[in-house]
Amino acid sequence: MCGIVGFIGHKNAKDVVLNGLTRLEYRGYDSAGLSLYNQRYQIFDVYKDEGRVAKLVESTKHADFSTIGIGHTRWATHGKVNKENSHPHYSQTRRFIVVHNGVIENYQELKDQYLHNHVFQSETDTEVIAQLIETFSQTLHVENAITTTLKLLHGSYALLVLDSNDPEKIYAAKYKSPLILGVGSDGITIASDLMALVGYSSDYHALDDKTFIVARKDDVRLFNLDHQPLDLHLKKIELDDAVTTKGEYAHYMLKEIHEQPSVIRRILTNYYDKDIVQIKPEILSAIKDADRLYILAAGTSMHAGLIGKQLFEKLCEIPVEVHIASEFAYQKPLLSKKPLFILVTQSGETADLRACLVDLNERGFETLTITNVPTSTLAREATYSIELFAGPEIAVASTKAYVAQVSVLTILAYELSQKPFDLHTELSKAAISIENFLASENIREIVRHYLTRRNAFFIGRGLDYFIGLEAALKLKEISYIQTEGFAAGELKHGTIALIEDSTPVIALISDPKMSPNTRSNLKEVQARGAKTFKIVLESCKIEGDEVIIDDVYSLLTPLVMVVPTQLIAYYAALERAYDIDKPRNLAKSVTVE
Ligand code: G6P
Repeated sequence: MCGIVGFIGHKNAKDVVLNGLTRLEYRGYDSAGLSLYNQRYQIFDVYKDEGRVAKLVESTKHADFSTIGIGHTRWATHGKVNKENSHPHYSQTRRFIVVHNGVIENYQELKDQYLHNHVFQSETDTEVIAQLIETFSQTLHVENAITTTLKLLHGSYALLVLDSNDPEKIYAAKYKSPLILGVGSDGITIASDLMALVGYSSDYHALDDKTFIVARKDDVRLFNLDHQPLDLHLKKIELDDAVTTKGEYAHYMLKEIHEQPSVIRRILTNYYDKDIVQIKPEILSAIKDADRLYILAAGTSMHAGLIGKQLFEKLCEIPVEVHIASEFAYQKPLLSKKPLFILVTQSGETADLRACLVDLNERGFETLTITNVPTSTLAREATYSIELFAGPEIAVASTKAYVAQVSVLTILAYELSQKPFDLHTELSKAAISIENFLASENIREIVRHYLTRRNAFFIGRGLDYFIGLEAALKLKEISYIQTEGFAAGELKHGTIALIEDSTPVIALISDPKMSPNTRSNLKEVQARGAKTFKIVLESCKIEGDEVIIDDVYSLLTPLVMVVPTQLIAYYAALERAYDIDKPRNLAKSVTVE
């Protein structure tokens, strides 16, 4: 995680870097820092402290104009959250200044072998990089000192480096952690995510692993680690500012929840031309020809994968296994003879998934990445990739990406099925159902009344069980209420022991067949003091049900049932005055294993 931004060009680097860091704060927000050139003293000043980018904006208010600068927003891995461990870090004489995203696994060995006489200012792995570059620069040209250092690093890095002896250049390098190079008439911007480039660069190049860059005001050169030149392949940046701002909404999360109907419609527009599906035939064949699909994902995306399994198995009778990426990476199940691996990921950068993909690629398996970020590492390194079209998701808690993932998985499964319903019509109805619910929802009052305890449970059966898992994750992520999602029938086999007076239990009921069973499970917890309420589909409703959602086609219920649960989490966090878009300890793009 962590976000990095560097700029060299013809305008104030401070503005470009600070704006970029603000947009990258979703990647981590434990501390923020910036280095700018101080013309008067001919040194790079470093401003850094624990806390948010907003604090850095304040502390750099009077910084001198500088056309070169690098910055960082941190999600702590090595070392406590404090000023010393904040980036940028510098070498012993302060000649080299470094910001880093990633983890250097062998930093202790490198310290012992090359840097035993050095004094370190921080507990970070990053400082080792700055010190090594300085050490090697005593005998090597600076570019060679950097590439020599890079070759020694084990782990992952996206790096920006400044040299006080040559303040006309930014050096950059990447391995495993993402790094995008932006080119515009005002200069060169290098950042962890395209979003930081919007408004400053017209074109971008997503860097491959083991690329080393030397950027100057009007020129940028790319090399491999052996200093052989690489080509620059520029593509147009098609994002604009509007998609990266909150607009009329108090929080990104609320905006993104409200965008969900338009996300479904955008997916339909992008995936269908008239009635013809716009998915490469080889992708559909790869799925059809597989004897088993393995869906790999983390967090919310894994929950979307659980719905995907139901869709593929029910609509096209392809067996599917869903695996947590961090487990699958090192503990593989017995694989089928002709597997296809589907990696579901909003960011396309999750390190746990990357670990799976690197191994699958080495073993020659076919892979398909479904991601919101087509320029991402996982999109580029898989055999096939397709896009979610959710638009940038900025709140750390994922909402619209989940709905997009379920929609795209539905389209894939549908296109390989006997097409038992009209998907276009039914997905459009789901979008309308969400809109109708959002227009008249009363979730805030419900939250005030029911979610008064430190714990809560979601229960459901069938597809609703999987929604319950996602609902529980959302609620705990941002309201810090300890929540579990349970198969309604399973609660009585142990967990019911936790039900006390006023424990909130929320039932999800979208399948008329299972509605009576779930309702009797509710009676069981009510008898033990639980405070219960129900989110139900119109066709399952009975008197006294609290939240009613318009009916949608039976396999599409997850798209609509999840929405009230997202708002439950939102309002529970709002009531507690928590930082909804940046919950504690989390980051949106988890680029460490
Ligand atoms: C982090 C985020 C989650 C997300 C998970 C997987 O933990 O906080 O919201 O679901 O990573 O991310 P991905 O980008 O692979 O979907």
